[in-house]
Order: sequence, then C-alpha cells, then structure tokens
Amino acid sequence: MRRVVFNQKGGVGKSSIACNLAAVSASAGYRTLLVDLDAQANATQYLTGLAADDVPAGIAAFFRNTLASSGFGKKHAVDIYETAFDNLHVITATAELADLQPKLEAKHKINKLRKLLDTLDGEYERIYLDTPPALNFYAVSALIAADRVLIPFDCDSFSRQALYGLIAEIGELRDDHNEALSIEGIVVNQFQPRASLPQKMLDSLLAEGLPVLPVYLGASIRMRESHEANMPLIHFDPRHKLTQQFVELHDLLEGH
Ligand SMILES: Nc1ncnc2c1ncn2[C@@H]1O[C@H](COP(=O)(O)OP(=O)(O)OP(=O)(O)O)[C@@H](O)[C@H]1O
Ligand SMILES: [Mg+2]
Repeated sequence: MRRVVFNQKGGVGKSSIACNLAAVSASAGYRTLLVDLDAQANATQYLTGLAADDVPAGIAAFFRNTLASSGFGKKHAVDIYETAFDNLHVITATAELADLQPKLEAKHKINKLRKLLDTLDGEYERIYLDTPPALNFYAVSALIAADRVLIPFDCDSFSRQALYGLIAEIGELRDDHNEALSIEGIVVNQFQPRASLPQKMLDSLLAEGLPVLPVYLGASIRMRESHEANMPLIHFDPRHKLTQQFVELHDLLEGH
C-alpha cells in the first residue's frame, strides 16, 4: 500500500506526518519505506540524521539515471538507506532534485516513480511518500505512484480555501493518470482544542461532506524536539499525547 502525504501549502506538517506515520508503521511490524521527494530533504534529515554531504543521492540518482538511459524498458535500481529503526528504510532526497526537475519534465519522466515502486512492492508492505509544497513534477509523480492520499490541514482559513482546489486537482489527476488513487482523508494537524474557531471550521467541512479524519493531531514542542533528535515520536517519547494520536491515526487508517 502506498500513501502519499500532500498539500501544496508549505509548513502544514507533511514531512512530520509522513515520517511519524511511517515510524509507527515500522514499529508495528510492517516493512516500511519512506520516499522523500522534496529537495528540502526534511524527511531525510529527520529519519537519517546524516550531514547533508553524507546523504546518499537516493531518489535524485534514480531520476538522474532515467535521464541518461535510452533503452526501452530499462530498469533502474535505487539506493535504499536503512535507518537506525527496525523495519524503516528511506529513499533519501537531496537538493539535486531541484536541478533535475526541468529536465525530467522535458523528457516526460512522470511515470518513472510508479514503475520504481512497482519493483519494490514485494519488499515493502507500506510505502509513504513525502512531497514538496507545490504540485510540481515530484508531487505529481507521487500522486501517480500512490493509491491513497492523506491531506494535512492546519485549520487556517487560507488553507480551507485552498482545500477545494486541491481536491479538484487530485480528482483530475486520478481521472487522467491514476484511477486507483483515493483520498484517504484530511489529517487535522496542530489542532487547538481550546479555541472555538478550528472546531467550527472542521464542523463545517464535515457538514460539506469532506473526509476529515476523526483523529486530530495536537500541537507540541516535542515534534520539533524529535526533529532535532532525529528520532520519530514513537521512539523519542512513546507515551506522549501527540505520539498516541499518531498511533491512533495509524490504527484508524489500518483498520485496527
Ligand atoms: N503537531 C505538531 N506540533 C508542533 N509542531 C509541529 C507539528 N506538526 C508540524 N510541526 C512543526 O511545523 C513545522 C512544519 O512542519 P513540516 O516540516 O512537517 O511541514 P511540511 O508541510 O512538510 O513543510 P514543507 O511544506 O516546507 O515541506 C515544523 O517546524 C514542525 O516541527
Ligand atoms: Mg516537508
């Protein structure tokens, strides 16, 4: 199963959610792969803790190789990084992705990621894809490669307005490129239970029939601390409320 975490708005929690769900998945015993598709490489940094110079070229090397090849049906391998956490592997991102993007667009490489992941399905039970904050080549590649999309949402009124456009764009992509894609749900992040506005906004989204998932993720400084420590919350602070919310969200998605 392949889950992509996407919202073109920056800073809504895509990387934090992709990494923490992947870590919960791995700790629950699923062989789990996280694919970082963002040139900012935040997920790579979080899960590997490597200095920028030591990060394997990962997904950028894979895409670079697809540009160099001329043969039909040629298969390209990819370097997979084994994290310090059991069952959790990463295909790393680097800044090179930004340079490669126009070339990949010009050469119509939009289906390459899906083909790569097809070859990895036997090895991984769960694949999580972290995306950049734009509907660019990499985000579209991920949406074509995935079968479910999670949309992080921060209860901001600008985000709300953008949500309808985002859902329409995902629908269009599904119709044109990936019939298997479904919206698994909207993940509320940094929810403030004591403020009335966020709850009102969520009530109205639900009333409109939008698939807001019933587990809301709160805000906690532990998130940033866990980034600093390069340790997902399930390892950094297993008993914390936010960690438990990630476990609940994961169990809900997995039907446990
Ligand atoms: N539940 C949370 N509680 C507290 N801080 C959070 C939470 N979720 C995310 N953050 C913080 O918000 C910031 C943005 O999060 P993150 O990088 O995961 O978002 P993103 O959508 O991946 O951003 P980008 O669009 O730049 O890729 C980070 O500093 C992160 O630590
Ligand atoms: Mg991110």
